Amino acid sequence: MDISKKVQEQMENSSWIRRMFEQGIELKKTHGEKNVFDLSLGNPIVNPPKKFFEILRDLSNSKDKNVHKYMPNAGFYEVREEIAKSISKESGLPFKASDIVMTVGAAGAINTLFRSILDPGDEVIIISPFFAEYIFYIEHQNGNYRICDSDENWMPNLKNLENIIGEKTKAILINSPNNPSGVIYSKEILEKMSSIIKNAEKKYSTSIYLISDEPYRKIIYSNNDYPFIYQYHERSVVATSHSKDLGLAGERIGYIAVNPSYNNKIKLIDAIIFSLRTLGFVNAPALMQRVVAKLQDEVVDVNIYRKKRDLLYENLIKIGYDCVKPDGAFYLFPKSPIPNDEEFVKILQKELVLVVPGIGFGTKGFFRASYCVEDWVIEGSLDGFNQVLKQINS
Ligand SMILES: Cc1ncc(COP(=O)(O)O)c(C=O)c1O
Repeated sequence: MDISKKVQEQMENSSWIRRMFEQGIELKKTHGEKNVFDLSLGNPIVNPPKKFFEILRDLSNSKDKNVHKYMPNAGFYEVREEIAKSISKESGLPFKASDIVMTVGAAGAINTLFRSILDPGDEVIIISPFFAEYIFYIEHQNGNYRICDSDENWMPNLKNLENIIGEKTKAILINSPNNPSGVIYSKEILEKMSSIIKNAEKKYSTSIYLISDEPYRKIIYSNNDYPFIYQYHERSVVATSHSKDLGLAGERIGYIAVNPSYNNKIKLIDAIIFSLRTLGFVNAPALMQRVVAKLQDEVVDVNIYRKKRDLLYENLIKIGYDCVKPDGAFYLFPKSPIPNDEEFVKILQKELVLVVPGIGFGTKGFFRASYCVEDWVIEGSLDGFNQVLKQINS
C-alpha cells in the first residue's frame, strides 16, 4: 500500500464526513445554493471584532522588520505576558508568561500536548459525545483512547468514568462548552471528576492530566461563572484558540495554559515547546500572535449566536424534537426521531437539510445541527425538519 495502513483505516473510519461534504456540494449544484440548508459545518459566521481590522492595519505599517523572523518556539514573550494577564484576571490565578505556549489553533495545542505526555499504550479518556478529531489526535501521538459516556443532560457519567479509569490512564480530555452538545460542565461535575482522578492516582500510583479543550469558552449564554479546571486538579492544562471567540478559525492561533500551581510545570512546558517545534509547527503564526495580544478583552458578538440558538432550538422543540438546551458553543444535539441516526440524516437530506449523525461524535441516536449559519438557512431548514418528523410519525 502506498500510504500508511493506519491512516488508510482512520480515513475509512471518518469517511462519512467526506461523504457528507461531497453530497452537500452535489445537492447545492443540483438544487442551487439557496435551496440547500446546510447545518453540518462549524465554521464561525460572526466576523472578528472591528478592532481586529484596525490592529491588522496598524501592524502592517510597522517598520520593525524583526517581527517576521524566527522567535522563541513558545511565542513572543510580550504576547504570552498579555495572555497570562488576561487569564489571571478571569481565573483569579497568578499566570506568568512562562505558563503559556502559543500554538497553531486548539487542534495544534492538543496534538502538541499529547505528543508531550503520551508513551505508546497510554490511554486518554474522552467523553462522548466528543469532537471526532480527538480519536485521530490521540492515535497520531502514540496513545489509545477510551470513551466515557454521558447522562441525559450530557454531563459525564461519573460511574462509567470510575470504571474505565485505570493504570494506563494518562489524561482525561474534556470539552466545555461542548461540541456537539453545547453544554457547560458544572463545578460539581469538575469536583467529582477531580476526586475520581485523585483516587485513581492513589490506587495505581500514577499521575493523570486533566486537559480542557476550550475554544468555545467565551461563546456562552448563561450568566453563571465559567468553572476553570485549574482549581479542581493540580496537573491541569487548557488547550484553546481564538478560532471561535474572535472568529479567526482560518488564522490558526491558539495557546496552551499550564496550571501555574502544577509542581512539575517547568518540565511539562519544556516538553510542550520541544514537541511544538519538532511536530513541525515551530511556532504559532507571528502576525496573529501580535494581533491577538491586543484583543484579549474582545469577543465576537455572542448575542448573534444566542439569537440563532433560540431560533433553531425553539422551533425544533415546537416541531416535536427532543433536545437539551445548550448554554454555549454553536450547536444543537437533538435526539434522532428514529434510532438509526445515519438513516435519519439521509431522510433529512431528501428535504435538502444537512446535519451530522451522532455516530460521528461517538453517540448513536442523535444528530448535530450547527446554527452558525445565516438566519435564512435556519428558517429554510424548519420545513424539512417538520416534514420528516411527520413522515416518521405517520
Ligand atoms: C471541540 C473542538 N476542539 C478543537 C477544535 C479545533 O479548533 P481550532 O480551529 O482552534 O484548531 C474544534 C473546531 O471546531 C472544536 O470544535
